[in-house]
Amino acid sequence: MSRTDLSVVILAAGAGKRMRSARPKVLQPLAGHPLLAHVLDCTRRLHPAAVHVVYGHGGEEVRARFAEDAGLNWVLQSQQLGTGHAVLQAMPQIPDSHVVLVLCGDVPLLRPETLAPLLAAAADGVAVLTVELADATGYGRIVRDAAGAVHQIVEERDANDAVRALNEVNTGVIAAPAGKLHAWLASLRNDNAQGEYYLTDVISMAVADGTPVTGVRASDPAEVAGINTRLQLVEAETALRRRRALALIERGAILADPARIDIRGEVEVGADVFIDSNVLLAGRIRLGDGVQIGPNVVLRDAQIGAGTVVHAHSLLEDCRVGADCELGPYARLRPGSELAARVKIGNFVEIKNTRMAEASKANHLSYIGDADIGRDVNIGAGTITCNYDGANKHRTVIDEGAFIGSGVELVAPVHVGAGATIGAGSTISKEAPAGKLTLSRVRQKTLPDWRRPVKKPKPGQDT
Ligand code: UD1
Ligand code: MG
Repeated sequence: MSRTDLSVVILAAGAGKRMRSARPKVLQPLAGHPLLAHVLDCTRRLHPAAVHVVYGHGGEEVRARFAEDAGLNWVLQSQQLGTGHAVLQAMPQIPDSHVVLVLCGDVPLLRPETLAPLLAAAADGVAVLTVELADATGYGRIVRDAAGAVHQIVEERDANDAVRALNEVNTGVIAAPAGKLHAWLASLRNDNAQGEYYLTDVISMAVADGTPVTGVRASDPAEVAGINTRLQLVEAETALRRRRALALIERGAILADPARIDIRGEVEVGADVFIDSNVLLAGRIRLGDGVQIGPNVVLRDAQIGAGTVVHAHSLLEDCRVGADCELGPYARLRPGSELAARVKIGNFVEIKNTRMAEASKANHLSYIGDADIGRDVNIGAGTITCNYDGANKHRTVIDEGAFIGSGVELVAPVHVGAGATIGAGSTISKEAPAGKLTLSRVRQKTLPDWRRPVKKPKPGQDT
């Protein structure tokens, strides 16, 4: 359901000096995606009418990174004169009838559920998301009146000792009716300790003109934490890892250790999925019922059918695996691998752009690229498809029931017929007919008079 009266303004113009990085802060990666991407994900789930991103420092790099995101309106703040000034830059494009939600590009763990009460309260007044912190250093403090209503936000550098002692702080997330906000922002002054136009000053303006102000307390400090330093970035990574791991457990997966799984994409799991420790899941992952993922496995954009077991140290990318397969340990499936049910891919086997039909096997030490393999094919250890001639890739076709002996080179394009057997150690570059044994092996011989060469001692060298 879209909220046709909601405009979101995301503040992303700050330099992020404390990161000590050449990269703009909102492009720093969290779970494999830029901080700003996380904020945009949250924003999208609110279904707003418009999303304005205020950019400045390193702005072109930020814009370029999100160039494919057609729904964003980029607003340049060429000088960083404060958070109030930043929001003001977007106001000319926001109708007075809208509610404006201000988010920060460096607060990546915020969830839409937390924003719902804030948006509800912003229908007829200002709402600010607050949080209580054991150590509030650096934050704007929330000053409430005797009745407990939010009265003012005071930035730390403008605060006296009594205000500094407060530990309820402004998260930086504020929602307000656009018409009023526009007027308040236009009359902000910068006569404060930092010489900036503070967004937070709209609170006292609202109080002064009788507009209700609601403080909505967030329960989890980690969710509303801003990222300013490398350490905070790492802490956010830990918090997000845990959040995603717990969500997976809630959906029925069994994790060996929720602290040792990294989820950098969207994961769908069936019933009774087991994931061992140190597993990395990226992109779109679908794991069917009963799938077992061994330790140190990396899956990226992979779909795995029910009952399949992926043993330790395997790497699967951009591939589809059927039901009841067995992969690894040390299996590598590269993009375009499609395995049907009951396929076995063993250790040190690399598969690329290859279809394998039911119950076929490549159990040891092989490279199978650009191949179409029928059902019940057995590929022996050390088989290589020679698919690349230096300029072009060629296909290898192996029909059902074929048996490829160990150490075979299949020089593509080449066809092995159904039920054919290829003798071990062969180099096959021509059609291998169905049902026949084909081999291309130099006949073995023994030279009875041959002697192994012996090193002659160098002159002057003792033996
Ligand atoms: C701000 C709040 C403070 C709050 C804290 C929460 C104000 C005046 N203070 O303080 O009450 O506790 O966030 O983290 O709002 N930005 C711009 N343009 C600017 C200035 C800032 O886009 O001219 C962006 C920054 O990139 C950042 C956000 O606004 O994403 C907050 O700015 P920052 O300078 O970090 O404000 P704080 O001093 O931390
Ligand atoms: Mg800040």
